[in-house]
Amino acid sequence: MRIGIVGAGEIGTAVATRLLAGGHEVVVSNSRGPQTLTDTVTHLGDGASAGTREDAAGAELVVLAVPGTATAQALDGLPDWGGRVLVDATNLYTSTPPDPAAETSSEAVARHAPGARVIKAFNHLFAATLAEDPRRGDGNRVLFVSGDDAEAKKLFTELLTALGFAPIDLGGLAEGGRLHQVPAGPLVGQDLLRLTPQP
Ligand SMILES: NC(=O)c1ccc[n+]([C@@H]2O[C@H](COP(=O)([O-])OP(=O)(O)OC[C@H]3O[C@@H](n4cnc5c(N)ncnc54)[C@H](OP(=O)(O)O)[C@@H]3O)[C@@H](O)[C@H]2O)c1
Repeated sequence: MRIGIVGAGEIGTAVATRLLAGGHEVVVSNSRGPQTLTDTVTHLGDGASAGTREDAAGAELVVLAVPGTATAQALDGLPDWGGRVLVDATNLYTSTPPDPAAETSSEAVARHAPGARVIKAFNHLFAATLAEDPRRGDGNRVLFVSGDDAEAKKLFTELLTALGFAPIDLGGLAEGGRLHQVPAGPLVGQDLLRLTPQP
């Protein structure tokens, strides 16, 4: 699959590393243009290329990996998503305690991506941990996934499983997203293994 990544910093390159290891192609982008990503693409290796934000966001599946304060800027002005899948890896840190009744950060992202089937994932672990091979000998590293579209989640969790992760579907963006969003989600930072059943 050709996967676009908007935001080519720590988390964008960690996700790219795993996708490339799984045989996918990635197009990475930032706000300054592909010419600023030459070293990043060289470091990522075969299968990686740099593009504009529009190039990356036009892919079959897109990962958003920009600072939480830059999500609107990164998404606004893009064409309608036409049902394509947008995986929101961002975290929005707030200085005040979160209002439990407020929308989740990924619901806010979805408002800026009309027509996208938004999934929240890749946000609950440090980038360096996410970049590691998720097959850990006696099990597979757990990744949490939430989203409102069952078919999109099925496609995405199959992709994660093929990469060696153990995805856990937490439900919709509102109820599931609340469980793995910063700062108060109880699953943030939980680095779990799903153990391989022993015969
Ligand atoms: N680092 C972690 O361990 C970690 C773990 C889990 C989740 N996260 C979340 O993942 C997101 C990214 O974190 P990070 O640590 O990878 O940040 P980072 O290293 O600062 O990278 C951010 C990337 O986004 C790009 N960017 C910024 N504004 C943009 C815009 N308007 N349009 C397109 N690209 C833009 C930046 O490039 P330019 O400035 O050149 O445009 C840069 O490539 C954050 O929301 C963070 O909370 C991070």
